Amino acid sequence: MRFNNLQTKKNNINLSNELDKERIPEHIAIIMDGNGRWATKKGLPRSFGHNKGVSVLKEIIKASKNIDCKVLTVYAFSTENWIRPSKEVDFLINLFEKVLKKEISEIHQESIKIKFIGDLSPLPNSLKLLIKSSEALTNNNKKFTLNICVNYGGRQEIVKAAKEIAIKSSSGKIKPSDIDEQLFNSELLTNGSKDPELLIRTSGEKRISNFLLWQLAYSEIYITDVLWPDFTEIEFLKAIIDYQSRNRRFGGIESLSNESFEDSYYSSLSKND
Ligand code: IPE
Ligand code: IPE
Ligand code: MG
Repeated sequence: MRFNNLQTKKNNINLSNELDKERIPEHIAIIMDGNGRWATKKGLPRSFGHNKGVSVLKEIIKASKNIDCKVLTVYAFSTENWIRPSKEVDFLINLFEKVLKKEISEIHQESIKIKFIGDLSPLPNSLKLLIKSSEALTNNNKKFTLNICVNYGGRQEIVKAAKEIAIKSSSGKIKPSDIDEQLFNSELLTNGSKDPELLIRTSGEKRISNFLLWQLAYSEIYITDVLWPDFTEIEFLKAIIDYQSRNRRFGGIESLSNESFEDSYYSSLSKND
């Protein structure tokens, strides 16, 4: 066991050395998926997977801070997850409350600002109050931001923003011609914050399951077959290294190594016109 730990540390150090410190994503979004399958594979109730998932999240928050990433946005419960058996839903909601109660002082000590994103109205009052006080307590923390998406759905978020804009427009606060991407973005639950450069999804599913539909427009996507409860700092570093090998073009083209070749072709075209 001791040897395993030393080996893990060594692997982490090796991978950390491969990181380009100049190209660390400032904002990483994660779809933490695969808790249930992890538990079922082990012959355990699905809730064991959710419990293990919490300790993995703690490790990944530490790993994010270590590499100087500034914002982590994690998908904890979607607007669609209510259709699960009510016992599992209740377990998850209780888990959020239990974990937040237990961890909030350490979160604050670590100078982490915590924010919950989603429609919190159907949550129990005790959890809503805890969320409110946790957000207020950590509001001025500057080192790191942790966004937890609970009862979050990208479509619901976009519809809500459209409604807010319609209300402002019909009351004359804004004109229809004022509506642009920036204004729309500012009405989203993420409040105009910087889009994630990287989306990680665990458990191999190749879909975004209604997560951050607007904000992920140009994010790099990294999908791993590793189930969330098995995800580690090493897997996280692998995702960042993969991200750093991507060529982000945003609709443009790769920088040209043979610009004069391209130029001479275009000028030959105009001569022949
Ligand atoms: C992700 O794991 C956690 C939540 C959606 C709450 P799942 O519970 O979706 O696990 P799988 O995908 O069924 O294995
Ligand atoms: C997405 O996972 C939601 C969270 C991780 C909270 P799901 O397990 O709900 O997604 P689907 O059903 O496989 O698309
Ligand atoms: Mg799932």
